[in-house]
Amino acid sequence: MTVLLDLDPRQADALIGAIGPNVRMVTSFDALEAYLAANPSEYVVVLAPSVGIAPAFDLAERMRVERPALGVVLLQDRVDTSLLGDALRAGVREVVDQRDLATVTMAVRRVAELATRMRERGHEYEPAPPARDADQPPGKILTVFSAKGGCGKTTLATNLAVALAESGDREVCLVDLDLHFGDVAIAMQLYPVHTIADAAGVSGTLDDFSIRGLLTVHSPGVSVLAAPLEPGSAESIPAALVGHLLSQLSAMFDVVVVDTPAAFSDFVLAAFDLTDVFLLIATLDIPALKNLKLTLETMDLLNYPRERWRVVLNRADSKVGLTITEVEKTLRLPISAQIPSSRAVPVSVNRGVPIVQDDPGHPVSLEIRRLGERVATLPSQAGGRGDRRRLLRRKAR
Ligand SMILES: Nc1ncnc2c1ncn2[C@@H]1O[C@H](COP(=O)(O)OP(=O)(O)OP(=O)(O)O)[C@@H](O)[C@H]1O
Ligand SMILES: [Mg+2]
Repeated sequence: MTVLLDLDPRQADALIGAIGPNVRMVTSFDALEAYLAANPSEYVVVLAPSVGIAPAFDLAERMRVERPALGVVLLQDRVDTSLLGDALRAGVREVVDQRDLATVTMAVRRVAELATRMRERGHEYEPAPPARDADQPPGKILTVFSAKGGCGKTTLATNLAVALAESGDREVCLVDLDLHFGDVAIAMQLYPVHTIADAAGVSGTLDDFSIRGLLTVHSPGVSVLAAPLEPGSAESIPAALVGHLLSQLSAMFDVVVVDTPAAFSDFVLAAFDLTDVFLLIATLDIPALKNLKLTLETMDLLNYPRERWRVVLNRADSKVGLTITEVEKTLRLPISAQIPSSRAVPVSVNRGVPIVQDDPGHPVSLEIRRLGERVATLPSQAGGRGDRRRLLRRKAR
C-alpha cells in the first residue's frame, strides 16, 4: 500500500493511476501523520509537488530516523541535479518528474520492493555504516579483474564482499564498475533505488552523505554501489568521478571490493590507479591464460606494482589438460587461490544468494574466505595513491 500526499488534489487522478492500484490519497500533513500512525507497515509515501520542497525534505529526514524502512518518493514539475543531490542528502529515495508517469510507476515499485525486502530480512534500512575516524587509514581497495569475460569476476567479487564482512568487524562496500552490463545486483538479489549513474547527477556535491544515499544495503556490513540499471547511462559517467567515488568510499569503508568489466576501460583504469590489491582471474584454458598474460604485461607497462597482484584460478579443478604448474610457469607468478568448479556456484547465483552465505562450508566458500583474509591483511599502498598513468607518461618521455 502506498500513500500519496497532495495538498492540491485537483490533478491527482493521473498520479493515482500511475502509482498503482493500492494507493490512498491524503490532502494534509495531519491526515498523513494519522494515516501513518494507523498503518505502521506502510511502505511508500509519495509527495506531490504541492507539498513543497522544504516540508518534503523535513518529512524525509524525520522518516529516515523514525521509520527507516519507509521510502519517500518526491514528485516535482522539474528535476535538476542540484535538487537531486539535496533530496538524496535529506533521505528522499527517488525524485521523479510528475509528468513522466511511467517513471513514477517504476520508482514507486522499486521503493516498495526495497521496503518489502528489508522487512523480510528482518533488518531495517540502514543507509549509513558507522563513520570511520578521520585519523584511520583509508580502507583497502580490492579490484577483481580479468580481460576475458565470464571467468568468474562477479562470482568472486560478490562472495568476497560478503565473506569479508562475516566476522562483523569490517564494513565492506562492493562497487559494480561493469557499468554497461553489471549484474552484481541480480547476483545478490538487490533492488537498487540509486546507482552509480545518480552520482553523475550530483558530482558537484558528492560528499559522504550523498554517497551513502546511493548505496544499497545487502546485509549487515555489506553495502553495494550498483551499476546503472540502463546500459546507456554509463555514457554520462566521467572516469574521474569513479576515482573520486572510490577514494571517498575507501575513507568510509574498511574494504572496497570492485567488480569490473572484461576491458581496460577508462573506468577500470581509474579504479586501478587506486587499487591496493589486484585479484586477477584465470581459468585453465589457453585463451584465458593468453589474456591474463597480456593483462600482466599491460599492468607492468602501466607501473602497477607486481607485489599487489594476486592470481586467482577459478574452476581450478577442471580436467582440461593444463596443470597448475604449467599456468604458474606461463605467468611467472604463483597462484594465490584455487577456487574449485561446482554446480553450486551457478545455483547460488540463480537463487541470488552468494555461495559463502548459501553454503558456508562448501569448498568454494572456504577458498574465497581464505583468500579474503589473506588479502585484507596485506599492507595498503605505500607512498599514497597517485595517478600511475602519469608515471607511465613520465617514464615514456
Ligand atoms: N567456480 C565456479 N564453478 C562453477 N561455475 C562458476 C564458477 N565461477 C563462476 N561460475 C559461473 O560462470 C558464469 C560466469 O561467472 P561470472 O558472472 O562470475 O563471470 P564474470 O567474469 O563476472 O563474467 P562477465 O565478464 O560477463 O562479467 C556464471 O554462470 C557463474 O555462476
Ligand atoms: Mg561480471
